[in-house]
Amino acid sequence: MTQQLSAARNESAPQPSGSSNPKALYGGKTSRRLTVRDIGLAKERGEKWPMLTAYDAMTASVFDEAGIPVLLVGDSAGNCHLGYETTVPVTLDQLTMLSAAVVRGTSRALIVGDLPFGSYQEGPTQALRSAMRLVKEAGVGAVKLEGGERSYDQIRLLVESGIPVMAHIGLTPQSVNTQGYRVQGRGEEAAAQLLRDAKAVQDAGAFAVVLELVPAELAAEVTRVLNIPTVGIGAGPDTDAQVLVWTDALGLTGGKMPRFVKQYASLRSVMSDAAQAFAEDVIGGTFPLEEHSVH
Ligand code: KIV
Repeated sequence: MTQQLSAARNESAPQPSGSSNPKALYGGKTSRRLTVRDIGLAKERGEKWPMLTAYDAMTASVFDEAGIPVLLVGDSAGNCHLGYETTVPVTLDQLTMLSAAVVRGTSRALIVGDLPFGSYQEGPTQALRSAMRLVKEAGVGAVKLEGGERSYDQIRLLVESGIPVMAHIGLTPQSVNTQGYRVQGRGEEAAAQLLRDAKAVQDAGAFAVVLELVPAELAAEVTRVLNIPTVGIGAGPDTDAQVLVWTDALGLTGGKMPRFVKQYASLRSVMSDAAQAFAEDVIGGTFPLEEHSVH
């Protein structure tokens, strides 16, 4: 696999459009593996950046070549890769294996591995044990976990132990059974809680925070008051970065999309058309031809 990916890389892959700043996360000249320090410097420069999810080496290599600076091996793998209805059943073993594949398929992007439900809620020691697996076995450069004030102690111990943490507040899908899939931070009290959560994860040492499904005005305020970058999904245009689940953004996911998703391709129909064309060639005897045969 590694050989195939490097061979593919050498074929003239389209390069990201250039930026006037050679240090820019997207379109800059840096070819080494990006770190959380690069992410912090981008906030100081007021630079926006894109993040996508990835769950396998080959897809990750495409996004890495396209210049996406941060790839998240999200527990959305549960819905988008493993066939579950929610992220709740995803295990640390599964995310360790997928994260290792994404690391192997990339050379520049910062890879963030998600801590799945049940791998950090018991407390800081459990969180450290789980995060260590993603760092040591998979080789990720950072981990992500859900929760604001409630995850303060976990974030603090991981950061003190040398593991960069991306926090995740607002809608936290691992809490679907208590929270549902509803907009978070609407109303005075809920907005004040979201701000407390954002400040708590920054104080605990998180290098960035995902804001999922919160009103755009509130996300803009959080972005203004924090020194660390905010990464929005369904949080309006004013966050420092934007993340989308790749299967949604490229049109592989079937069914109705949430309002906050923009679809940049229609891979589901491209793949279906290709599969049907193959089937028809086989049925009609037009594949394989002489040129595809060995003697
Ligand atoms: O698991 C995931 O993909 C996520 C993103 C939606 C931020 O948490």
